Amino acid sequence: METDRLLRELTDFLRIPSVSTLPAHNADCRAAAEWVAGELRQLGCRDVQFLASDTHPVVWAVGPEVRGAPTLLLYGHYDVQPPDPLAEWTTPPFEPTVRDGKLFARGSADDKGQVFCLLKAVEATGRLPVNLRFLIEGEEEHGSRVLFELLRREPERTRADVVLIADMSYVAPKWPAVYTTLRGLCYAEITVRTAKSDLHSGEFGGAAPNAHEELVRLLDRLKTPDGKIHVPGLYSAVRRPAKAELATWRSLPFKESDFLKHRVQAKALTGLKAYSVLERLWAAATAKVSLRLVPDQKLKTVERQLAAAVKRFAPRYVRASVTFLHGADPATVKVTHPAFALLDQAFREVVGRGTIPARAGGSIPVVPALGRGGAPVILTGIGLPDDRLHAPNEKLDLKQLWDGIRVFRRFYELLGSKGV
Ligand code: BES
Ligand code: MN
Ligand code: MN
Repeated sequence: METDRLLRELTDFLRIPSVSTLPAHNADCRAAAEWVAGELRQLGCRDVQFLASDTHPVVWAVGPEVRGAPTLLLYGHYDVQPPDPLAEWTTPPFEPTVRDGKLFARGSADDKGQVFCLLKAVEATGRLPVNLRFLIEGEEEHGSRVLFELLRREPERTRADVVLIADMSYVAPKWPAVYTTLRGLCYAEITVRTAKSDLHSGEFGGAAPNAHEELVRLLDRLKTPDGKIHVPGLYSAVRRPAKAELATWRSLPFKESDFLKHRVQAKALTGLKAYSVLERLWAAATAKVSLRLVPDQKLKTVERQLAAAVKRFAPRYVRASVTFLHGADPATVKVTHPAFALLDQAFREVVGRGTIPARAGGSIPVVPALGRGGAPVILTGIGLPDDRLHAPNEKLDLKQLWDGIRVFRRFYELLGSKGV
């Protein structure tokens, strides 16, 4: 592989600060979309288009026609999380730097590096074995409103035999994964008002209700230190993972003490003590101002429950309101479709181990919509658990990148030759 050229090209992509949550970076998001479109044209795609937004366009493309071969839809996102706190980066977030075999930059793992991997695997096939469709969006980190709208209006965009998403990671070094669930998200802002306007703390403090104090107490009623969320009805849809699934997790190279020491790097783990850490991460709903939803929970229901709980726990003399910012339903993926066996084989051939079925802690809002056309949605990735997504010093191991290109190339070829 021409690794020098590839590294140069990925570096160009990573240098664009395409932060979708900050309007000051709108032009950069557009520039990242242009970069993706340029690559797609180079791959010989027809019909490369910017859809639905001028500032954060969804990049759509159709690959060269391969008669009789299955159609594969590739999804990814070119937007990234804000890089702050900047002072904690060893080298600046948008000046990609290789140290010790790792490429450090915002977006290196989430998700530009992985989008790059999918594209370069196409390039590596030489003669394309499958029909390709691309949906590369620029608003994933901001709730994917533009793509949601687009797919509602034009559901035929998801027409494909298989959907492949590389926006996750291995479960451990040398342990690739395919994800059976993805958490949804209920992201809300709770506002408490106690008086008509602000009051001078010297003149009024001690006798007038204080909005900050009331908000703290309200949040405390909503979630107690033992990790339990007091939103009535919230847990009623939640099921324990099956025995077989729990058994698979026990076989993983995962130790709570290492997780605390090397990954979390805090002084203690918190949350519901009755459940193992993997269950707490992968199968439980956790609340900040956001609630992560697990399979069978419905965003609409949880929004209603949260609003009702806030109303119920707020004292009568305050006005508490809940504004929902964005959200997503959880996704459940049955991994029995033959396409999963092909990905498993590709990983087995390239990295020596197949995909372990795992659950994802994070969310990708449009996943349920991408599966609505009936195609199996393969959630996988080539990152590692210590890539520091959304945090300072995000990185991608170059070995993972080169292996990843080989894996996806092999997957495209298997899909083309064996079909599904
Ligand atoms: N790639 C992540 C989702 C992810 C992270 C899946 C870790 C599996 C493991 C994605 O880019 C992301 O960060 N999603 C957001 C969605 C939100 C902003 C709507 C998330 O999970 O917070
Ligand atoms: Mn991502
Ligand atoms: Mn992300």
